[in-house]
Amino acid sequence: MKKYLVQDSAAMLPYHIAIIMDGNGRWARARDLPRTAGHKAGMEALRTIVWHARVRGLRWLTLYAFSSENWSRPAEEVERLLSLLKLFICCDLVELHKKNIKIHVIGERRNLTKDIIALFCEAETLTSKNTGLNLVVAFNYSGRNEIVRAVKSIAIEVEAGRIKDSDIDDRLFASHMDTALMPDPDLIIRTSGEMRLSNFLLWQAAYSELSFVPCFWPDFSVVDFDTAVAGFCQRKRRFGALEQPQDVRKVV
Ligand code: FPP
Repeated sequence: MKKYLVQDSAAMLPYHIAIIMDGNGRWARARDLPRTAGHKAGMEALRTIVWHARVRGLRWLTLYAFSSENWSRPAEEVERLLSLLKLFICCDLVELHKKNIKIHVIGERRNLTKDIIALFCEAETLTSKNTGLNLVVAFNYSGRNEIVRAVKSIAIEVEAGRIKDSDIDDRLFASHMDTALMPDPDLIIRTSGEMRLSNFLLWQAAYSELSFVPCFWPDFSVVDFDTAVAGFCQRKRRFGALEQPQDVRKVV
């Protein structure tokens, strides 16, 4: 039985925001800079938004940092993105922990190098008891890959006789996803003016509100964040049902 939290719409803030941080390359090109400079500037925007989300009291923030398809970019660019990720975890982890932020990483870990896997484990273990903002980093992530991995893991359970095919429903399926213990995103923001999900949280986005922001990710500011949140507060969410006298939000 699903539970719903009924709130006055004026006080209705998203519980979980997910962001597709797009436009680093175009930001750099507009300045005659290499694409890697765009990613460096994107890293700064990422820091600013994480700290701001925490100050705003957001509970969950998911960032699409590196998709399964990003490996097909030029080696130099992939290398730069990996080193930015390592830098973020190495340099910011103590501060993130001090600020009571709990880190989660989603995406396929198989085939990642040992040093990256070790960094993810360190970040998740160190911050596991924190109770503030939940920061989810989607790395080597794609929605279809996550769904296929979930299907495989359910098939193994069925074959081993631990579950029956009649046990499979939305809830069981969701429990085999990387996001098993996470709420679905209420609001997905994409920067750079592109209007698509690009393989991000395909299962979880079923009832997400979408906000497409024209600026490139390095220019995305705290004001843009607050504007997207204010826009979300104006939306009427029905989750497939009829309009309610008050807004409803699913509670996980
Ligand atoms: C999209 O811009 C952005 C990414 C592929 C990755 C997002 C990365 C950061 C914000 C930097 C921090 C990195 C990590 C891994 C924590 P794009 O390159 O697709 O831009 P374009 O569409 O203009 O070419």
